[in-house]
Amino acid sequence: MSDKTTILRKVISNELCEFLSLQFRILMIVEYDSGLYSKSASRSELFSKYSPLFLDSLLLYLQPLIQENFKERLLPTYSFGRIYGHQDALPPHFDCRASSEIGVSCCLSKDSEWSLDFYKSDKIESVSLEIGDVVIYHGPSLKHGRAPYCGQEYIGAFLFYVFENGPLKHLKYDTRPFLGCPLPRKS
Ligand SMILES: [Fe+2]
Repeated sequence: MSDKTTILRKVISNELCEFLSLQFRILMIVEYDSGLYSKSASRSELFSKYSPLFLDSLLLYLQPLIQENFKERLLPTYSFGRIYGHQDALPPHFDCRASSEIGVSCCLSKDSEWSLDFYKSDKIESVSLEIGDVVIYHGPSLKHGRAPYCGQEYIGAFLFYVFENGPLKHLKYDTRPFLGCPLPRKS
């Protein structure tokens, strides 16, 4: 698989980034503090969320633009969001879910520079995204990670697709019946 990365600048407007960030912060407060969930998120962990409705919406919204970078059409699989704090890092890793064939990392909010490092065969490519920028990559075959964050808050959205005519096409919606649903429980 390719170790190519493609950076698209300013593809999400500042207003939309702000709106999505607000939703994500509210979601974090609800899950940490509301007591509505029997298994509350722990403040000692990074706040991450699989396919919240507003990020699955972004997954569909950006699909035509992401698709322009490939010769084949794509199918959306899932989205993911994470709020990082001071000194949070992302250890170098490959994306392990098969449904992560095409990954898109989006910067929704930040208060400091923070590069995403791609470990290519001949070099480390450090990509710095401004708010509204995205980078497209092949996460299962291209190792990536981040050094500890020097700022206070970074909100990232991660969008994933598979090729419509590829061997992973059965992973459309990550095997969920609809976007916006949780993953089916394993029986
Ligand atoms: Fe990743």
